[in-house]
Amino acid sequence: MYKKVDAEFFYENFLTWLFKTFNEDDISFRNSLIEKLNLKEGDRVLVTGCGLGDDIQCILPKIGADGELFAQDISDVMVAATARRLNETDIGSVDRKNIYLSVSNASMLPYHGGKVVIGDEGVAPWLRENEYGKMAICNNRLWALEPPLSLLPDIAANVNLTWVLGNCFYVIDFEIANSMPFMDIDLPHKGIRGGSMRKRYFGQLEGIEPEIKAQLIAAASAKGLSVSALLEQVISASLDEQ
Ligand SMILES: C[S@@+](CC[C@H](N)C(=O)[O-])C[C@H]1O[C@@H](n2cnc3c(N)ncnc32)[C@H](O)[C@@H]1O
Repeated sequence: MYKKVDAEFFYENFLTWLFKTFNEDDISFRNSLIEKLNLKEGDRVLVTGCGLGDDIQCILPKIGADGELFAQDISDVMVAATARRLNETDIGSVDRKNIYLSVSNASMLPYHGGKVVIGDEGVAPWLRENEYGKMAICNNRLWALEPPLSLLPDIAANVNLTWVLGNCFYVIDFEIANSMPFMDIDLPHKGIRGGSMRKRYFGQLEGIEPEIKAQLIAAASAKGLSVSALLEQVISASLDEQ
């Protein structure tokens, strides 16, 4: 669709329709999303699926003369339109040498993440079964899609999910952390079961007779121990005897 010769005309019409339908101002809306990037002078930004380059125009003033802007789209028609529009625009102090455009596939890029903001069609779940949501989805089947939260990287942090444009589009923003979230898997659980996250996950044993289990719980309770602690004692003693 975005590679057709009239893609620029078609997509511009669509954007006009979209923002009118949800009574939003295109530029203010884009700026509200770009604010989530917390951009400052000198930052480097990657815009994927740049379309007609409208986000770029909002980003450039924020990163200034020392910033770098990488923008790409899988459609050469859209990248050409972006390039032409940028050439026709006053971009203030930004050095055009710091703007890099490419025709490429967003899912095969060599960039490391920093702060990520993504958005796409997807009617909020609570609207899907009423006529508002059904009309939206009937108008465009893509609006039935759900936010792809399960596809976020393991090291995603500070993840936020919001719905925008009449709650028919979602926005996910997150940061790429240096490591997995901290979790103390050895912190002992208080209470009769006892153990810890590590013990409950890695130390699961086979099933035993329910009567023996009941006796074990009663014995642990009588000794003021957790079942986990008593089990460890009993099993260790038994293994030592062997
Ligand atoms: C709905 S338009 C959004 C354009 C722009 N981000 C905007 O806000 O107006 C989707 C754009 O993503 C591009 N696109 C789709 N799949 C892509 C991919 N795998 N890699 C890069 N661009 C892609 C399309 O060519 C199209 O220009």
